[in-house]
Amino acid sequence: MTKVRKAVFPVAGLGTRFLPATKSIPKEMLPLVDRPLIQYAVDEARAAGIEEFLFITSPGKAALESYFGAVPLLEHQLAQAGKASALETLAMARLPEGCASFIRQDSPLGLGHAIALAERWVGDDAFAVILPDDVVLSETPALAQMVEAHRRLGCHMVATEHVPADRISAYGVVDIEQAYGSVQRVRGLVEKPAAHEAPSAFGIVGRYILQPSVFAHLRKGTRGSGGEIQLTDAIAADLAQTGVAGFAFEGTRYDCGSVPGFVDATVAFAQARADIAPKLAQAAKDHVYKAA
Ligand code: UTP
Repeated sequence: MTKVRKAVFPVAGLGTRFLPATKSIPKEMLPLVDRPLIQYAVDEARAAGIEEFLFITSPGKAALESYFGAVPLLEHQLAQAGKASALETLAMARLPEGCASFIRQDSPLGLGHAIALAERWVGDDAFAVILPDDVVLSETPALAQMVEAHRRLGCHMVATEHVPADRISAYGVVDIEQAYGSVQRVRGLVEKPAAHEAPSAFGIVGRYILQPSVFAHLRKGTRGSGGEIQLTDAIAADLAQTGVAGFAFEGTRYDCGSVPGFVDATVAFAQARADIAPKLAQAAKDHVYKAA
């Protein structure tokens, strides 16, 4: 089984739920505690052994492209001022020259359309897809867990999580034939089913390891739920040929594509930081007293 070396980050969505902030700032650049969302996604990919990074961007997302590059003037100023820790932080936010690629999606025709644009860049090997909106707090980074499980399988793999019945119709949902621990043998996938038609309680969240055979289906450009070209539909169409596994990862996923999810994630990630947690606990107590 070949190593998963490449990851695609679809970041071409409009981010309407974060207007007016996203009028001039890409959603993926909004800071969760002190790092932009996209940094969490790239760090997770690196921890899983990813070496090449493709960002599917859209007009107006130039800030994303410059984020991973060098900033010689700032680096020089920090070096002159002896600010070693700030320099270290900057280095963490850089991708080595030649490792990051950008492809523009001119119209937001859907996640499937965004991934279709990666076909030539991907080539012949399995590749990962990370949606930066979904941020996972876990012991082992979610994609690293998937890469490990995928090594033994070699089919398409989608990350899944248990979703309450009143929210399941917002997700792609897997039909599970059999579960073996975290790994689920999937016999069908359906995008945004009505709650009473959902084939299971497991929704697909923003991590995938896909085989290039998915592109033959994406290329057809078939419109699905919401009139968009859906990635779930292309994976479903390839199920008979390549097989699909669900993977119920360990960890908590936060939907940072929605405002409540982003606020929830901000509290959780701040609590996980030793340098911030005590101040946060004090602030929470103060709020309770003020509200009483
Ligand atoms: P969302 O469904 O969250 O859409 O996309 P959005 O446009 O980003 O946000 P809202 O709903 O307007 O607030 C899920 C993921 O798919 C990408 C998004 O960038 C996000 O990572 N996407 C979606 C694309 O890259 N292209 C598309 O055409 C649609």
